[in-house]
Amino acid sequence: MCAIVCLMSMSCAMASDSCVGIKGAYWPSDSSFPPSAIDTTLFTHIYYAFLNPNNVTFKFDVDDLTAKLLRGFTSTLRSKNPPAKTLFSVGGASAGGSVFARMASTAATRKSFIHSSIHVARKFGFDGIDLDWEMPQNPEEMEHFGVLLGEWRVEIKKEALRNRRPQLLLAAATYFSVDFFLDKVYRAYPVAAINENLDWINAMCYDYHGSWDTSATGAQAALFDPKSNISSSYGLGKWIEAGLLRSKLIMGLALYGRTWKLKDASLQGIGAPAVDAGPGRGALTFNEIEAFNMEKNATVVYDAATVSVYSVAGTSWIGYDDPRSISVKVKYARTLKLRGYFFWAVNGDHEWRISKQAKQTWDYYQR
Ligand SMILES: *[C@@H]1O[C@H](CO)[C@@H](O)[C@H](O)[C@H]1NC(C)=O
Ligand SMILES: *[C@@H]1O[C@H](CO)[C@@H](O)[C@H](O)[C@H]1NC(C)=O
Ligand SMILES: *[C@@H]1O[C@H](CO)[C@@H](O)[C@H](O)[C@H]1NC(C)=O
Repeated sequence: MCAIVCLMSMSCAMASDSCVGIKGAYWPSDSSFPPSAIDTTLFTHIYYAFLNPNNVTFKFDVDDLTAKLLRGFTSTLRSKNPPAKTLFSVGGASAGGSVFARMASTAATRKSFIHSSIHVARKFGFDGIDLDWEMPQNPEEMEHFGVLLGEWRVEIKKEALRNRRPQLLLAAATYFSVDFFLDKVYRAYPVAAINENLDWINAMCYDYHGSWDTSATGAQAALFDPKSNISSSYGLGKWIEAGLLRSKLIMGLALYGRTWKLKDASLQGIGAPAVDAGPGRGALTFNEIEAFNMEKNATVVYDAATVSVYSVAGTSWIGYDDPRSISVKVKYARTLKLRGYFFWAVNGDHEWRISKQAKQTWDYYQR
């Protein structure tokens, strides 16, 4: 009997909550693209990026202007047809990691942060909170990250019981792999604490190559890399191998590309010699890339080995994803039985060409 029940609850036959696909996207709050322009037929969850705590008290000080933005964001997305769920995302690359390292290191500071985050989520009508700590630097910080998640979930459960509401969602954006195998200081995420306390993680399967290495072009979000382990297939595989539940793993997709200036216009493949960052000082959104390609009559090449696309015009080289490469990646996520995918960031795809392709591919393989 138990065997049957357990089996059923692990399969998607019952369309239980843990089986519903997540189609997420981050909305950068400094973008000129309004939340009202988001096509919610294409996304289930939209992340407000970013809201950060005071670096001394670890509480969220929300000024009037931000309060207005937060309320506008949640009420707009809730009233769309269909409504999208909203989370606010804490952290991000520009916030750095040290504020979270300090916050997570003592019980008192964790408590301040946790209480304030729950208060803000309810006050402004969010469905959940997403922690984008970039990045825990050593094994001790990883341990504190795990402790934080446990205490956070306890408080979320208490609040839900107290107010008779569904629990807030709790998610985190993470490195593409479960471990930082490329760094001098080896460390790995606390997988057991993640399985127990988070609804899911958003694995950032991009930024593998960029203007921090101008010596050669690269596929910044390669699904496969024949020459190294810096690829989404490797990173996602490591998460699963380490025991992360597949129902908690979400694959990151980029609505932007990275650019280089070629050393020699006639040498133009992936890994070609480069001398500098290219157009957009190293990064362009998918919209901008499409406009650039058109204006410069760029040559566009699909690279099946990495599942990525690049365009070349003179010495300008851009590595990115288009609807075709995204479709292969989403199919791959389906094959791995992941929970879903998310995009950074929603303002990069004004005409929804990539977002539509991703949804179609995901829904097709659901059958
Ligand atoms: C905290 O933030 C303030 C203002 O943004 C900054 O001046 C200060 O250096 C930060 N302190 C730490 C310890 O990061
Ligand atoms: C990739 O990682 C595996 C272990 O997971 C290791 O055996 C292999 O040597 C690595 N390959 C490269 C090219 O670093
Ligand atoms: C665009 O490039 C192609 C070759 O890639 C060339 O045949 C064509 O003439 C070019 N068009 C313009 C308007 O430059």
